[in-house]
Amino acid sequence: MQPNNAQITVQGKTIELPIRKGTIGPDIIDIASLYKKTGTFTYDPGFTSTASCESRITYIDGNQGILLYCGYPIDDLAEHGDFLETCYLLLFGSLPNRANKKEFDHLVQQHHMVDEQFSRFFQGFRRDSHPMAVMVACLGAMSAFYHDSIDITDPQQRNIASIRLIAKIPTLAAMAYKYSISQPFIYPLNTLHYTENFLRMCFAVPCETYSINPIIARAIDRIFILHADHEQNASTSTVRLAGSSGANPFACIAAGVACLWGPAHGGANEACLKMLEEIGSVQRIPEFINRAKNKKDPFRLMGFGHRVYKNYDPRAKIMQKTCHEVLKELDLKDDPLLKIAVELEDIALHDEYFIEKKLYPNVDFYSGITLKALGFPTSMFTVLFALARSVGWVAQWKEMIEDPAQKIGRPRQLYTGPSKRNYIQIQKRP
Ligand code: ACO
Repeated sequence: MQPNNAQITVQGKTIELPIRKGTIGPDIIDIASLYKKTGTFTYDPGFTSTASCESRITYIDGNQGILLYCGYPIDDLAEHGDFLETCYLLLFGSLPNRANKKEFDHLVQQHHMVDEQFSRFFQGFRRDSHPMAVMVACLGAMSAFYHDSIDITDPQQRNIASIRLIAKIPTLAAMAYKYSISQPFIYPLNTLHYTENFLRMCFAVPCETYSINPIIARAIDRIFILHADHEQNASTSTVRLAGSSGANPFACIAAGVACLWGPAHGGANEACLKMLEEIGSVQRIPEFINRAKNKKDPFRLMGFGHRVYKNYDPRAKIMQKTCHEVLKELDLKDDPLLKIAVELEDIALHDEYFIEKKLYPNVDFYSGITLKALGFPTSMFTVLFALARSVGWVAQWKEMIEDPAQKIGRPRQLYTGPSKRNYIQIQKRP
């Protein structure tokens, strides 16, 4: 056997499969030739042992609790950089120098405004529509508004589409919020920094001057950095799968937004906040811990556990710090939900069940409390996540389109339905 091969015997037939090595992380057995050589498929629902692509963008070591964007630790990026720097990094693979950064910031700023027709597009929605429903529609609609950047074979159009997505999603997200509270849309102001602009579009009203709190703007910026990319998670894989058919980037990102909406993914911070409100007091925590441990009870501790992190989610530590900073700035240090969260985290981290199953707080555990304190309604939480993740989706989509090995994604199945049956005409059926 070749030293870098894996050997597998399937129904008496032994074959060799190549083992591929990444820069870091587990080796990969390349099973692409398995079906051809043995006539069998692999079965891995949920992709727990399957790599779906090759990527240079994000690396996670779930056991150590490490997250790197293009090699840079998330802690450093969140501490010293800003969101647009992270966007540049994810799109181009290296940190910008000062001139690159200035140029990139300017480019994004020039694209914040959306086609004026969008304001009429919004009028079609009920005011009480969930903003995520509106976002799915708006992202899909971008392909109708921006025809000149949907030719995926043209690198120039791919770049324009990427910048448009990063620049316009905050405008659309703020419009979705304003629409839901019956307030007028606030146009972007290009002199402001990305996050300041977003806050102003969400919270300013035409009849008052709006002043930006730099601590709050910094907190939001950090939240965006933490959520910018996360390897081949469900929504990113959805974007890649949609894109693998050659669909345009706006349609692919709309698919990603739809996937992110689910409570096991982007909806978890909303679910976590609801859970903290339901717990209601520190005294009731043990009752909920017991429910989470009870196999017969479907209740799970929201904001705990992760498919990949079997250690403290590195984003959760930064999120916890940001949460404390925001609540201090807004004079909400005694917020009852924060007290419940701190106590719940402490109890769970010392509980045998959670230790044994390696269930640690994830990024969503503190983000809900923070976003609530910042004035966002729970229905907007996942929208903010989608806004931040759009750069990761775009970067991964571009990487896939530019990968010469790229093919349409087409999983196989273990068929367990009936084998061939004879058709009986309806008159003759019993
Ligand atoms: N509370 C209680 N028990 C849990 C929890 C939890 N939050 N999470 C996992 N478990 C238990 C499961 O019951 C299971 O127990 P078992 O082995 O006895 O059957 C074991 O831990 C493994 O759980 P799985 O569901 O198999 O793990 P998986 O990797 O599929 O799920 C997930 C990960 C979906 C995140 C899960 O931990 C969960 O539902 N957490 C709560 C929701 C949440 O916070 N999601 C946010 C994820 S982060 C993000 O998307 C940004």
